[in-house]
Amino acid sequence: MFLTVFFLLVVLCTQGGNGKEGEEAQRPGHVSVVIVGGTGDLAKKYLWQGFFQLYINQVSSGNTFSFYGGGQSPTEKATPVLFEILKAVSCSKDVSQERCALLKDQFLRLAQYRQLKSLEDYQDLAKHIEQQLQEEGMTEAGRLFYLSVPAFAYADIAEKINSSCRPKSGAWLRVVLEKPFGHDYGSAQVLASQLRSSLTEEEMYRIDHYLGKQVVSKMLPFRIQNKKLLDPIWNKHHIERVEIVLKETLDVKGRIAFYDQYGVIRDVLQNHLTEVMTLLTMRLPKNVSRSEEVLGNKLQILSSMLPLGKNQAVIGQYQTYKAEVQQELNKTKDHVSHTPTFAAVLAQIDDAQYEGMPILLISGKMLDERVGYARVLFKNDIFCVQNHNNVHCKPKQIVFYFGHGSLQYPAILVSKNLFKPALVDSEWKEVTEHKDVNVFGLPISDFYIQTPMEQKEAYAELISHIFLGQKNSFISTENLLASWDLWTPLLSSLASTFPRIYPGGADNADVLDIHLKGKDVSYNNEVVIISTDHLGGTSTNGFQVMQGKFRSSEMVSAWAEQLVDKLAADIQEAAEAAIYEGGVFHLALSGGSTPLALFHRLADHHFTFPWRNTHVWMVDERCVLPTELESNFRNLHDHLLQHVRIPYYNIHPMPVHLNQRLCVEEDRGALMYEKQLVKLVNSSSFHFVLLGVGYDGHTASLFPGGKADELGDSLVALTESPSKPHQRMSLTFNVINRARKVALLVMGKGKHELITQLSRVKDNPDKWPVTGVKPTNGNLVWYIDYDALLG
Ligand code: BG6
Repeated sequence: MFLTVFFLLVVLCTQGGNGKEGEEAQRPGHVSVVIVGGTGDLAKKYLWQGFFQLYINQVSSGNTFSFYGGGQSPTEKATPVLFEILKAVSCSKDVSQERCALLKDQFLRLAQYRQLKSLEDYQDLAKHIEQQLQEEGMTEAGRLFYLSVPAFAYADIAEKINSSCRPKSGAWLRVVLEKPFGHDYGSAQVLASQLRSSLTEEEMYRIDHYLGKQVVSKMLPFRIQNKKLLDPIWNKHHIERVEIVLKETLDVKGRIAFYDQYGVIRDVLQNHLTEVMTLLTMRLPKNVSRSEEVLGNKLQILSSMLPLGKNQAVIGQYQTYKAEVQQELNKTKDHVSHTPTFAAVLAQIDDAQYEGMPILLISGKMLDERVGYARVLFKNDIFCVQNHNNVHCKPKQIVFYFGHGSLQYPAILVSKNLFKPALVDSEWKEVTEHKDVNVFGLPISDFYIQTPMEQKEAYAELISHIFLGQKNSFISTENLLASWDLWTPLLSSLASTFPRIYPGGADNADVLDIHLKGKDVSYNNEVVIISTDHLGGTSTNGFQVMQGKFRSSEMVSAWAEQLVDKLAADIQEAAEAAIYEGGVFHLALSGGSTPLALFHRLADHHFTFPWRNTHVWMVDERCVLPTELESNFRNLHDHLLQHVRIPYYNIHPMPVHLNQRLCVEEDRGALMYEKQLVKLVNSSSFHFVLLGVGYDGHTASLFPGGKADELGDSLVALTESPSKPHQRMSLTFNVINRARKVALLVMGKGKHELITQLSRVKDNPDKWPVTGVKPTNGNLVWYIDYDALLG
């Protein structure tokens, strides 16, 4: 059969076959292509088409081919399935219909299905290949195995290939692998060493289809061709930030068994987006086709990334994901998955060129549009006084647009106020006719745009590279492990993190907007969006939004840091409002360790806080000397007061130390404090009281069983704590409940149990003192961080 085919190939050659890629290929000869998983989804969608393309391109090269679709099913059953798939392959526009039909016919005749299950199956395949070669008198060029099967099968198949399917020396063996290449650093390392026992590094082709996307594959050539213009600006001084984004509109229904184990970071960020990031930032190789240099330079970038931790990422999950998991994985209604379907990560490179330059990696399912791009946004220091539409005032950017989105085609866009780039390839063209389309809010006429003349599938491109033995667009073991080394600590730190729930599509509105602050990233919108069925959130747009209700009062919740930021901002707002109204702000602050972060926030970030008009009071004090570490006043002093410009006479420590003794009833310290506040604070109504809650439900220094009602009308009292130091001085509910605003701050996993109990108990101040906080005319807000709320 091969002879006939070879004859036909020669005929086709003379009819003008495109043999360009084969020119620099290795010694021509016979190539056996085996797709293990040859009737699976990937093979059906991309691989057979890619190999048909290769076949068309190689028709005139002197190479001959045989194609095997391998699988677990018996031959009789799977052969018709394979041929159904093969019949669907198509030619590019430049191939005439007649020629295409002929090529397709040849391709089908060269293909067959083989069951590839046991070692004997592989041995039979090898025998078959050798026999054919002998019969046809062909020299063997190589064997290409494409493993389109779940990763757990890789090691076993690689071993079978190694032991039975190696070609004789002089011919090559190439084994192509699809991600996932492990689940984290450890598992990637195990898989890598298993594979290494059967295959050499040279023989392995780990594929990342993003590297075959036309625009992605031109990122390095673009940087090289425009090197002179880019060199001076390709650094931290000129680049505002880099955004590498893959937004998708689809959900993951049907793939949940896989997806729930992986999530968006492992599925997209660790591989596709990381690859793009390295292409954008790596040192330019002298020769893009020298894979050693390309991979080495990529590795250098991966190794100089700053570590990624919890503060460098936000994660989300589309609202219906939970139900899809329950359904596809047969889980009960209370099953919760923390797998993120959205993530935004802020990466930074720790080197002189890029130090401090934000690199955002973002991807998600169920977003508003399908689009992928890498955008380099430059700083623009030109300010147009009158004409903001002047080209010089517009953002300066280079966008590598992978496809879809508003443009609908792959392209490289360069702002006209940057420079006019050279065409990246002779098979690319400049786009000069502009449709009425906007990119990032700008008309596309603001850009120089270039696009490939013909759109090509990523898989077809990569298959041709594999055939040519070009390894620069594949992932080496070393680089793979370096990437996992970057991502694994982040994945571990996010393992118990609850993703923000988003409704999906356009309804997401600004829910997933993010905010960069130094090395950290957070959600911009602090509205609490979490699954809160048990806490009785209300529903907006069909998804749960926490409307700030906890024990019938308002609630704000966020990660600890954001929560503290919000509380500090709220206190400043209350201060400004009070001062605007009456010229003075009376703030009562409680002790303990919980408010320390708030004190730091106020001291380090609120430079405009009106301290001059603020009076600081104590909610409670321990009966110790103010020099003691346990003193609430000492804490307040050390962490806040000494750092801000507050007049001494505005500070009101509790007089626990009188007549050289601590908290003795006859010294009437509590009464002194009460008189002071009655005198200074209008109607004894503080503008703002900050409280905490102890594990036993105490607040201020009002403890369970403390008989708060026996304190009469007093505003300040001496109380007893069950723990040391036992003696305390505290504001009473009489004055706390007169306040305009009361904030109850609860943070940390340790308080989760308490919060759960508090969400259920009725008001009972004797048992749960905090339930006695009920401002008569004021407003109570609970500030609870996610750890305390969700555990
Ligand atoms: C795959 C991921 O690798 O890439 C998918 O597993 C994702 O979840 C896909 O949808 C995106 O690829 P493309 O080419 O459609 O952008």
